[in-house]
Amino acid sequence: MKPPTNTVFETKNSSSFFSAQLLPITQNGGFDMTPTCRVIQGDALEVLRSFEDDTFGAIITDPPYASGGLYTTDRQAPTSVKYTANKTNNPLPNFEGDSKDQLSWMLWSTAWLREAKRVCKKGSPICIFVDFRQWDALKWAMQWADWTVKGVIVWDKTEAARPQLGRFRNQCEFILWGSKGAMSMKRNVPVLKGCYRYQTLNKDKLHQTQKPLALMRDIVKIVEPNETILDPFCGSGTTLIAAQHEGYNAVGIEVTKEYAAIAQKQITETLNNQTPPTTSPVTNRSSVVGATA
Ligand SMILES: C[S@@+](CC[C@H](N)C(=O)[O-])C[C@H]1O[C@@H](n2cnc3c(N)ncnc32)[C@H](O)[C@@H]1O
Repeated sequence: MKPPTNTVFETKNSSSFFSAQLLPITQNGGFDMTPTCRVIQGDALEVLRSFEDDTFGAIITDPPYASGGLYTTDRQAPTSVKYTANKTNNPLPNFEGDSKDQLSWMLWSTAWLREAKRVCKKGSPICIFVDFRQWDALKWAMQWADWTVKGVIVWDKTEAARPQLGRFRNQCEFILWGSKGAMSMKRNVPVLKGCYRYQTLNKDKLHQTQKPLALMRDIVKIVEPNETILDPFCGSGTTLIAAQHEGYNAVGIEVTKEYAAIAQKQITETLNNQTPPTTSPVTNRSSVVGATA
């Protein structure tokens, strides 16, 4: 097995990269690795536009929610303020793309969802994380982009999630899912649960809104074997690491340079350590490029 490259692919090289190295991976070409993962640093919409039609077998993603508050000033706060309990001294980089108002976010979602549909094969599943504020906007955007909305999966974050005195606990996030047109009833995928219960990560986080690896390993199981998963908003790369563990190929896109570097490093480390951890793939944060101790 050749060692994986630690390069984060730049958008400007995309056309040669995609034709020369992305397309052969399903034939085990390019890098001699199975499964094969890539991170492309760039804007999702721009990168999606440079892929060929019918390339991927699924979209599994966690886009910026542009949520975290009802008012413009709330939304425009740094992501460290919106999404982490420890709002000061947070060592993790802030991420981009999280301050749109709801209408702009819905229009933008429609744009990337249309491109995402074009680059997926017929019948491909799509799973998108969303919170209670944006799930209706996301549902409209999915339909506008001609995805068939099939349902909502609940991520129960357990009683450890945000308590609110005198109110219901803010305990769940959601995953809207659907497919590109009709989905065959004869897919090589077992019956999956509709509700998953995993605590959010409290320590050893690499991203402010990092999803638990165990949750992502459950979610990627919707994809048929030997397919390539695309995560257009891959953050620290949890979807890609889950894909590696479950035997899929995967491609991630990430606009924030620090997180693209972290995702690429995660992939490399997962490939090199054949024994995967169960929660956070890398526990020694100081070893990760772009993170500060
Ligand atoms: C909610 S986070 C994903 C976290 C990820 N699930 C994880 O476990 O680390 C969304 C990510 O999308 C990235 N992002 C925002 N706008 C983007 C864009 N236009 N293109 C690509 N990535 C973008 C952000 O930088 C952020 O890292």
